[in-house]
Amino acid sequence: MDYQNQNIKAVRELLLSPERFGTLKDKSAILKAIELRSLYAEIPTLPEAERAGFGKEVNVLRAELEDMVAKSQSGTEVLRSIDVTAPFDVNVPVDKRPSLLPATDGSKHPLMTELELVLDIFYRMGFNAIESREIDDDYHMFGALNFPEGHPARDDYDTFMTTQTDTNGKPLIAPAHTSTMQNRILKKYAENLEKGEPIACLIPGRVFRNEDLDARHEHTFYQLEGVYVAKGVHAGMLIATLKTFLQEYYGKELEVRTQPFYFPFTEPSFEFALSCPFCDKLGCNVCSYTGWIELLGCGMIHPNVLRAGGIDPEVYTGFAWGCGLDRLVLMKYNVEDIRHFESAKLDFLRQFA
Ligand code: DAH
Repeated sequence: MDYQNQNIKAVRELLLSPERFGTLKDKSAILKAIELRSLYAEIPTLPEAERAGFGKEVNVLRAELEDMVAKSQSGTEVLRSIDVTAPFDVNVPVDKRPSLLPATDGSKHPLMTELELVLDIFYRMGFNAIESREIDDDYHMFGALNFPEGHPARDDYDTFMTTQTDTNGKPLIAPAHTSTMQNRILKKYAENLEKGEPIACLIPGRVFRNEDLDARHEHTFYQLEGVYVAKGVHAGMLIATLKTFLQEYYGKELEVRTQPFYFPFTEPSFEFALSCPFCDKLGCNVCSYTGWIELLGCGMIHPNVLRAGGIDPEVYTGFAWGCGLDRLVLMKYNVEDIRHFESAKLDFLRQFA
């Protein structure tokens, strides 16, 4: 805090001197401090126009001293006490307070608004959510996902590597997919299975790829990873889960279709397509006039991936998928260029505010 008034500055300095500060044991000692009282006593002597500003500064000084005393006693950081100079009554419920950030000055990013909708649908389907991370290691990016050393599929991911290395001497990486979280999720929730409950987790996160950029490809985007494991899980459940989610999200009946694909971490693996939610298969620019949109990769979790997560593939099976959030949103609103999302263009963002 920058204090404007010279007297207040001088009192602050005095009270913070080691001898004086040591005597300020608690709130009441601060209030009784003669220097602070002299400031309060000064208020009625001031010209009327200056009183309010001066009084506020004295209150701020008092709050600052209280914070510092509390901090020095607990030895840890404490939250600042309520700002007594706040331009609204802090006891008023949040939704009744004046809007400090009107949409003209700032608003939620459309991807975050949509992510909340997505999370809400999955919560209602019994999933919990764990956020992904923005730096990871070779094991979680590849090893735990059944990419053997030197496997050519490692090159498909256009992964950004850092010059820093992990404890095995491998470069740290900016995750190219949210599947890096699978091993952690399996380990964290393995005990659910012993209790007869499924592992049902959605993992949103930011991912990075060294891509050639165009209207459909961006170096930074969001993925939604899903992981579901229990006894007797089969591919029909995977398709039904994704179809239910997509119909909820787009608010309409959709057709879905799968075709075989290859991922090292699923067996079998599928590419999953849905009927264009924009034109209902009539053909439009969103679906490139095909009526269908290839949306995501998915499959039954490979036994090696389950094993790496400490789960017995003879007893449990599971499915997983990875879906681009940007693409979902792009199709919902017919956004013509995926790069708008990371562009910080206000003209674009304000349309969603
Ligand atoms: N990680 C894959 C990608 O980014 C997508 C994916 C495919 C995720 C299959 C999965 C999965 O969990 O089972 O290309």
